[in-house]
Amino acid sequence: MEDWSECLDVAVQIARRAGQVVACAAQQEKRVSSKSTPTDLVTETDHQVEELIISTLRHRFPSHRFIGEESSAAGVKCELTDSPTWIIDPIDGTCNFVHRYDLRLHVLFMVTQMYSSVPNTRSFSHSFPMVAVSIGFAVRKELEFGVIYHCSDGTLYTARRGHGAFCNGARLQVSRERDVSKALILTEIGAKRDPATLDIFLGNMRKMLSAPTHGVRIIGSSTLALCHIASGAAEAYYQYGLHCWDIAAAAVIIREAGGCVIDTSGGALDLMSRRVVAAGTREIADYIVKQLQPINYGRDDSD
Ligand code: IPD
Repeated sequence: MEDWSECLDVAVQIARRAGQVVACAAQQEKRVSSKSTPTDLVTETDHQVEELIISTLRHRFPSHRFIGEESSAAGVKCELTDSPTWIIDPIDGTCNFVHRYDLRLHVLFMVTQMYSSVPNTRSFSHSFPMVAVSIGFAVRKELEFGVIYHCSDGTLYTARRGHGAFCNGARLQVSRERDVSKALILTEIGAKRDPATLDIFLGNMRKMLSAPTHGVRIIGSSTLALCHIASGAAEAYYQYGLHCWDIAAAAVIIREAGGCVIDTSGGALDLMSRRVVAAGTREIADYIVKQLQPINYGRDDSD
């Protein structure tokens, strides 16, 4: 029986390499365009990094299959079969990546500072740092391992089914909190902004806030938010509208850290369903499931 550890080692190497490409590109000018909606952003770096990851892996594992965010956006069928399949998000948090501090503005700012008495307190660190590379791997539709590389600070999250979850080599453990009134909840907005969707989104958030919970946070990267559940920094996550490449790697990491990752209906996670509830404990996951009103985003594998 394969243990896929060789594949995991390669995934770690390529995630680090890809993350360095993203970190360099973050300091440069970007060409930004949109995909499914005006808020669903993509840059040339998303394409370049996905090509780097897939071509490297395909060369090494020619019989494997690939699902990638940008390939799917370009029309490649998003299909999970029994074959070994890599599920890739080259840049999760593209909107954060796009809003990084612009070098040209910095130069302009420095010049104006030379003639000003106000001290310069800005630096290249002005940015939304939540940007990650995510690589999941499934065989016979079962998730085997996940690797998430935080491009801004170099943190590496890894997990292999049955072998625990780690952050920079240190074991991860979810929060054991069962009382929702002591929970910090994370979510993401998703790409749809029509009034009906926003009403449901805000209604769901209102229910989370009025539980009452300690709070609700949106950080702009589904994968890194899910890593916060794995590390115990927050108790739960829910979202409608994310994709299989946002969930795949993180689901293994959370489960191996002792948490649960389920469908918003309370049933088993369906990787293609574009919806998820993840939590440190089943009690908090069940509470969230009962509160949520669904938002229909369709499926990743529909034509
Ligand atoms: C998106 C981000 C965003 C979330 C979306 C994701 P991308 O991924 O994680 O925060 O709301 O659902 O698809 O487009 O940055 O890779």
